[in-house]
Amino acid sequence: MSARFVAGMNIEDVLRAAASVNAQGMAATLDSLGENVHTPDEARNAADIYHRLLDAIQQRSLNANVSVKLTQMGLDLDPDLTSDIVSALVQHAVTAGNNFVRVDMEGTNHTDVTLDLVRTLHAREGNRGRVGIVIQAYLYRSEADIARLLEEGIRIRLCKGAYKEPPNLAFPAKADVDANFVKLMKTLLKSGIFHGIATHDEAMIAATRQFVRGEGIDPGSFEFQMLYGVRRDLQRTLVKEGFGVRVYIPFGAEWYPYFMRRLAERPANVLFLARNLVRR
Ligand code: FDA
Repeated sequence: MSARFVAGMNIEDVLRAAASVNAQGMAATLDSLGENVHTPDEARNAADIYHRLLDAIQQRSLNANVSVKLTQMGLDLDPDLTSDIVSALVQHAVTAGNNFVRVDMEGTNHTDVTLDLVRTLHAREGNRGRVGIVIQAYLYRSEADIARLLEEGIRIRLCKGAYKEPPNLAFPAKADVDANFVKLMKTLLKSGIFHGIATHDEAMIAATRQFVRGEGIDPGSFEFQMLYGVRRDLQRTLVKEGFGVRVYIPFGAEWYPYFMRRLAERPANVLFLARNLVRR
């Protein structure tokens, strides 16, 4: 059942999924699943998979980049190690056909360190535009974070935010998160930098579409981003409308927690998958 949301267990599986997504007119970002690691060697092994992905993307001329979680690169063990590891990944992305590393955003205990690391790496010679970050619309601080990132020309993926955060840090009501998402989306699309608008929410997509048309923004100056297997109908519609779409494709042995999160986001998915299983 997890195959709907997770491309498979190994690198070959995710490369095949990326080629198929590309054939449907969409770009991909590849995520080797796994969060906290327990030893420096585990962090280095996790990074090694990303090095192999960057080589394979170039060798096969895939339209794909990679998405990386800092905790998987050892952040809770040794931030210096993480900095070295991610620096090497960005370096590799630059030499492997000018590719791009997206650093995913995790819980608020990691927000500052993630922002600091991405800004530091982005400021290094040769790295401009080759490393980007994620901003979560549910956080009060995001507007200020975006202002600083835009001054430095850093590419941003805007999402609503997936972690459980306290009400002193994040809007507790969905309506407020949505309103902030729309406000931040407008700031990003007017910035002249290539950003990702990551959502499956039709209301957020409609607001983006409307803003783009109203302001005469080039549809090629940003992309929508969605998760593999989620709202494939909407992904196809946006492609037909001429928008860029990038699909976030997770893979790997640690698929179970990711899969459970996708089901929890929308209980109807459980029913949907169960029906498909019976049909097969
Ligand atoms: P919302 O949750 O309000 O859902 C709106 C509608 O979308 C639902 O009614 C349903 O129709 C559809 N939908 C949503 N989830 C679905 C599902 N699982 N199955 C079927 N339909 C579904 N978060 C984070 O904190 N850090 C990060 O780095 C990232 N990275 C990231 C990358 C990409 C490409 C995406 C799309 C998302 C993320 N996220 C993330 C996750 C994000 O923060 C958020 O939790 C989810 O995208 C769900 O929010 P939506 O904007 O889709 O809206």
